[in-house]
Amino acid sequence: MKIDILTLFPEMVEHALCQSIIGRAQKKGILEFGFINIRDYSQDKHRRVDDYPYGGGNGMIMQPGPIYRAYKSVLDTAAVKPFVIYMSPQGKVLNQSLANQLSKNEHIVILCGHYEGIDERLIEEIVDLEVSIGDYVLTGGEIPALVLCDTVCRLVPGVLSCEESFADESHYSGLLEYPQYTRPLVFRGREVPDVLLSGHHANIEKWRLEQSIERTRKRRPDMLEKGREAADE
Ligand code: ADE
Repeated sequence: MKIDILTLFPEMVEHALCQSIIGRAQKKGILEFGFINIRDYSQDKHRRVDDYPYGGGNGMIMQPGPIYRAYKSVLDTAAVKPFVIYMSPQGKVLNQSLANQLSKNEHIVILCGHYEGIDERLIEEIVDLEVSIGDYVLTGGEIPALVLCDTVCRLVPGVLSCEESFADESHYSGLLEYPQYTRPLVFRGREVPDVLLSGHHANIEKWRLEQSIERTRKRRPDMLEKGREAADE
């Protein structure tokens, strides 16, 4: 999968995506990232990319021209038409199901906004989907873009090792993860639950499932409700 990120702060995203599992997948050639600085496509002598809003109001608006030219530079070398996402608090709220859908794309372009927003005509012209990472507002689209990249990329075949993907299965079942423990056996007076030391695999599985259900019931009853609705359909 190829992901091109159009941003005013390429270093902000580049460093984060070079690390850990996503960094390893790039070295293996499973993932490829491009970081495009929108300012490089300004035609202003001061490299400006924003201007005052027509009709007045607070803040500055990102102009359509530099973003469009940055996008065209990606398009000119693309093998397939990329799916274009604009990170925005007005977008569709990201969840596991949307991440699954997006992970099927061969090529994604992510546009990160700043200031008070982007000229609407640019959104109409190039954006396929606006995505929000939740009902709160950040200072820009870079951190949301990192969240999106991380959750989508880990679903691309080969990015996670078998062990890493297995560790996550419980989330796919629609329940929260059960509690996990490692050494030492006693930490500040707190002991590891006996059942985990019993070596009795069936009992351990049963305990873990009960813990998952109990946690989900206490912390995210909405998830249990959704699971029930899906089972009834
Ligand atoms: N930009 C600012 N806030 C955002 C959010 N919640 N999701 C996506 N992009 C954003």
